Amino acid sequence: MLKGKTIQLRLVQEEDAEFINELRGDEKYNTYLSKSDISVESQKIWIRAYKKQEQLQKQFYFIIERYDGTKCGTVRLYDFKTNSFCWGSWILNHEKTRYAALESALLVYEFGFENLGFEKCHFDVRKNNHAVNKFHEKFGARCIGETDSDYLYEIYPEDIKSMEIRYGKILGKQ
Ligand SMILES: CC(C)(COP(=O)(O)OP(=O)(O)OC[C@H]1O[C@@H](n2cnc3c(N)ncnc32)[C@H](O)[C@@H]1OP(=O)(O)O)[C@@H](O)C(=O)NCCC(=O)NCCS
Repeated sequence: MLKGKTIQLRLVQEEDAEFINELRGDEKYNTYLSKSDISVESQKIWIRAYKKQEQLQKQFYFIIERYDGTKCGTVRLYDFKTNSFCWGSWILNHEKTRYAALESALLVYEFGFENLGFEKCHFDVRKNNHAVNKFHEKFGARCIGETDSDYLYEIYPEDIKSMEIRYGKILGKQ
C-alpha cells in the first residue's frame, strides 16, 4: 500500500475486474488509451496472469482509492529494464481528489526509484493527449523522441526533486 495525503495505491485484485472494465470502457477517459474491449471474466483471467508477474516483481498494477475505499482510478508500473521502469494505465475518474494526479505520480516515482531502486523511468504519451503531455513536462520529464503517434519521455530521480519539495506539504510528505 502506497500512501499519499488524500489517496492511496493498493495492488489490483481479481474483484477489481468490473471497476477496471467500466473505467477503461468509459469514453470520457479512454480516448488516448489502448483499447481493452473484454468481458469481466476475461479481465479476471488477465488479472490472474498479472498476479504471477506481480509475485515475480515484474509488474505492479494499482487501484487508486480514497481513504474511505472509494475507487478513483488505476496506475501500473511495467516493462522493467535493467535500470529503467515504465508507467502507464493511468486513469482517474470523477471520484478523484483535487491532487490525486500529483499524489499518484509522486507515489509512482517514489516506489519506482526508492523502493524498486530504478535509476530512470521511461514512458510514452499520445501526441494529441495535450493535457497529459503538459502534466509530465511541468513535472520535469524530458521528451527524448517520438513515433508517429507518441512522444517518448524519460525522467530521473533528480527531475522530480523540485516537485517533491514544492508539493511535499500539500501531499503530506513534510
Ligand atoms: C491522466 C489523468 C489521470 C491526469 O489526471 P488529472 O486530474 O486530469 O490531472 P491534471 O493535469 O488536471 O492535474 C490535477 C491538478 O494538479 C495540478 N497540477 C498538475 N501538475 C502540476 C504541477 N506540475 N504543478 C502544479 N500543479 C499541477 C493541475 O493544475 C490540477 O489542479 P486544478 O484542478 O486545480 O487545475 C486523467 O486526466 C485521466 O484519467 N485521463 C484519461 C486517461 C489518460 O489519458 N491517461 C494517460 C494515458 S498516458
